[in-house]
Amino acid sequence: MYTEEELKHGLTTQVFGSKLFVYDSIDSTNACAKTFANKGAEEGSIVIADHQTAGRGRFGRTWLAESGSSLLFSVIIRPTFRTDKIGLLPLFAATGIALAVETVTGMQCECKWPNDILINKKKCCGILMESTSRQNKLDYAIIGIGLNVNQRNFLGELEDKATSLRSECGIEFSRRNVFRQIMMSLESLYTDVSKGDFSTVLMEWKARATMFGRRIALTQDADVIDGIAIALASDGGLVVKTETCQRVFHAGDVTIVKQ
Ligand code: BTN
Repeated sequence: MYTEEELKHGLTTQVFGSKLFVYDSIDSTNACAKTFANKGAEEGSIVIADHQTAGRGRFGRTWLAESGSSLLFSVIIRPTFRTDKIGLLPLFAATGIALAVETVTGMQCECKWPNDILINKKKCCGILMESTSRQNKLDYAIIGIGLNVNQRNFLGELEDKATSLRSECGIEFSRRNVFRQIMMSLESLYTDVSKGDFSTVLMEWKARATMFGRRIALTQDADVIDGIAIALASDGGLVVKTETCQRVFHAGDVTIVKQ
């Protein structure tokens, strides 16, 4: 369990974490952050919980996380740029978290389009971005972060796909310290991002992306698109060259096809 005092201790950020809403158990930190954002919660406010009873993943999936061993939180941001840059926000979040995880673990992270973070090819963090806009301007965005910190076991099909910082490094991490590092890393990137400048984010994200030039399968609902991941589009989409054409995708699950 966290307390607000513990999380605030040593936190030197000005905006990220300036307001903390701390829960032992909640349905979903994203759902709660949305309610607060609609009531005017300020930029940088965080909803954090030890346990979620209805954690949400991408594409309406459920996000399950063992109580007490993950970081489960949502950040409210209110950037003023136009909505055509929304697709870059997941890359901002993924880059900030990857940099923080690398600092605390000393391990190299991989960024997988659009917003997963892997260590040694296994997913350690999922990000769920939800936003609301009016007349081409973002009202707010919620960055929901589920980071596996100290889990020891991943059962069933997750065994080959998921990991935690502890599983990769063999040591237990203080969730408070990891949280603090993420706050610092996001805030440092956000100075430019809030003005619509994603150049540092894109440079750091691309340096950690391994899918470009490789054959991928991109799954969207029942469709599976087979092609080569060519590049990142300027709006954050993924440019894929199939046998018949070149297309930009803005959502989907990507698997690198072993050849
Ligand atoms: C994914 O499907 O990979 C994204 C998972 C995001 C899960 C986090 S946990 C904290 C926040 N609250 C939620 O309900 N979901 C996100």
